[in-house]
Amino acid sequence: MNVLVTYFSQSGNTEKIANAICEEAAKASDADLKKLEELTPDMVAEYDCIFIGSPLHSGSLAAPVKECLGVLKETSGQQLAGFITHMAPAYPEQDMEAFAEPMKAACKEKGIEYKGCFDCQGFLAESMHAIVQKKLNMDDDQWSEMVKQMTGCPRQEDVENAKTFVKELFA
Ligand SMILES: Cc1cc2nc3c(=O)[nH]c(=O)nc-3n(C[C@H](O)[C@H](O)[C@H](O)COP(=O)(O)O)c2cc1C
Repeated sequence: MNVLVTYFSQSGNTEKIANAICEEAAKASDADLKKLEELTPDMVAEYDCIFIGSPLHSGSLAAPVKECLGVLKETSGQQLAGFITHMAPAYPEQDMEAFAEPMKAACKEKGIEYKGCFDCQGFLAESMHAIVQKKLNMDDDQWSEMVKQMTGCPRQEDVENAKTFVKELFA
């Protein structure tokens, strides 16, 4: 089996999880790590199993990830799993299912087996803090609590959980 781990990442959080997923996948099979921008649909079609990673942008997968899902090719026996990072401390199970919906829909349409989605918290890029604080209508105390909570994310624990997700998927 050959595995592709691909991701879109602007500030490094999703990339950190991608690295962990690829490291774990490489223990069980051939695994390549590639940024989404480096890929074409033909290249993606060559893999048996694809992990695709995205930050959450305005409650949705990042646009380039949705675009990639839209051009996946129909192949026989391919598997796909997702991973998402988000600044919110945690999303209840049902929300995460909703965020992963474009992945599931693409799999269904293209005959790809959907293997689930991992998610964890990621620190919001500093350049976005003022904008998001305003958008969420938080006062300075609330915002500094939020920043404190997400500082250091994704944490080592998240990296380990991502590896466990891969292990269980291949078990
Ligand atoms: C434009 C933009 C929109 C975002 N929207 C959300 C959101 O709706 N919910 C959320 O929890 N985090 C949101 N975030 C935070 C990112 O999902 C989070 O910081 C993620 O870990 C960034 O991943 P990256 O470092 O791989 O780019 C947003 C970030 C950006 C830049």
